[in-house]
Amino acid sequence: MHSPNMKLRIAILALAGLGAAAASIQTEQNEGHGIAQRAAWPNGPFVTDGRWIRDASGVNLTYAGTNWPGHADVMIPEGLQYQSIATIVSKVKSLGMNAIRLTFAIQMVDEIYANSGKDITLEKAFVQALGQANGIKILNQVIAKNPIFNASTTRLQVFDAVAAELTKQQIYIHLDNHISKGMWCCSTDDGNSWWGDKYFNTTNWTRGLAYMADHAKSWPGFVSIGLRNEPREPTTSATSKATYNWQSWYTFMKRGAEAVHTANPAPLIFLSGLSYDTYMTPVVQGTALSPGTEKFSKADFPGYGNKLVIEIHNYETGATSCPNLQNNLYKNGFQALTPSAANMFPVMMTEFGFAMDASTWKGVYASCLATYLPAQKAGWTIWVLAGSYYIRSGKQDYDEDWGLLNHDWSAWRSPGYINGALLGMVKNTLS
Ligand SMILES: *[C@@H]1O[C@H](CO)[C@@H](O)[C@H](O)[C@H]1NC(C)=O
Ligand SMILES: *[C@@H]1O[C@H](CO)[C@@H](O)[C@H](O)[C@H]1NC(C)=O
Ligand SMILES: *[C@@H]1O[C@H](CO)[C@@H](O)[C@H](O)[C@H]1NC(C)=O
Ligand SMILES: *[C@@H]1O[C@H](CO)[C@@H](O)[C@H](O)[C@H]1NC(C)=O
Repeated sequence: MHSPNMKLRIAILALAGLGAAAASIQTEQNEGHGIAQRAAWPNGPFVTDGRWIRDASGVNLTYAGTNWPGHADVMIPEGLQYQSIATIVSKVKSLGMNAIRLTFAIQMVDEIYANSGKDITLEKAFVQALGQANGIKILNQVIAKNPIFNASTTRLQVFDAVAAELTKQQIYIHLDNHISKGMWCCSTDDGNSWWGDKYFNTTNWTRGLAYMADHAKSWPGFVSIGLRNEPREPTTSATSKATYNWQSWYTFMKRGAEAVHTANPAPLIFLSGLSYDTYMTPVVQGTALSPGTEKFSKADFPGYGNKLVIEIHNYETGATSCPNLQNNLYKNGFQALTPSAANMFPVMMTEFGFAMDASTWKGVYASCLATYLPAQKAGWTIWVLAGSYYIRSGKQDYDEDWGLLNHDWSAWRSPGYINGALLGMVKNTLS
């Protein structure tokens, strides 16, 4: 796996005319007597350069991966009552994927602060989320499948174990602040929709981002973090709704980015747009951030303007025309990959997804994205790895029919999609 990759890197460096020196570092590394530290996976910290993400050697890269939720009621990564962490990560690896978008809730960090800096145990987390009887039952299943854990293992120790396995299997870790209160996301009336909404306290948010960015310093595979998943109009809080605009968005993004960068200057920082992160047009086109007149400028992120990546979500699952869908994506943010953008960025589609049945993947939406994203060399993480959730919207052991995996996370839910499209999409993105 590793050698052809290194050879490809040499070829790219040579083509890019970056000089013999850089190429020889890679060659030495390839021959096993080079500067191991310098070129060791993931060879971060990453930076951005126009539309590309570059590793510490200047080689461009992108992500092809999937979402592994850890932000719901229990606030640990899902699926561990059915499979070991190593089994789940191996499944991701078998697709050739190189990235996981690992989601977390701010509430997890709030509870650490509320508990005098001490993290919550798995026993407490499961009982809190599933009730006494089921909480203990599922906890015991988790421990049976993952004997490194016990009832007093903490939530962050579970994240640490997931991160360690992802690192071992060389899968980039992208942390994503998915929500404030740990629960299924997202709606305009869930209290988590926008800064100032019922559960979405801005101070708790920056504190949580800083805490996780700092904590993840101990994860070698940690390379990036998303400041907030799917900002959206808060329909149940008038005070929060009053700031639902691009001008306030900019204030919050600068605050969040600063919190992350101060805590840990290494990771890339992903920015999500309004309306469930479906568009970033004013940022890309450099137009006024309404209702104000200020425009987006990387100079407003002093010392880390070269860390910013745009993430876009798309769920136009009913699309009937691939050209129309592509036009929408271009207008909504993918223009940032082109020199016509006022502000160029790497762009990642960190969420798209659809029912994992026998045929949906053959439709316009799924097949369009399967060709469009690799053709743009845009990164992506499909929603969602999970075959089921500990609990979702009050229902325990909730079956996820959009999950790549089946209910007990043992096999692909739609082998037709995996073999007919997803494997090729990964390959075409990373080749
Ligand atoms: C790196 O950049 C080159 C163009 O400079 C492009 O052809 C190649 O696909 C990029 N690699 C990745 C992994 O995106
Ligand atoms: C429980 O597991 C954690 C790691 O997950 C470990 O640090 C701790 O020592 C274990 N406790 C017991 C009582 O085995
Ligand atoms: C903020 O965190 C504190 C604990 O430090 C918690 O008591 C409070 O409920 C949190 N605020 C929100 C809105 O969740
Ligand atoms: C947010 O939480 C902080 C403490 O974490 C508190 O001081 C502040 O008043 C809260 N803000 C709102 C709007 O509730």
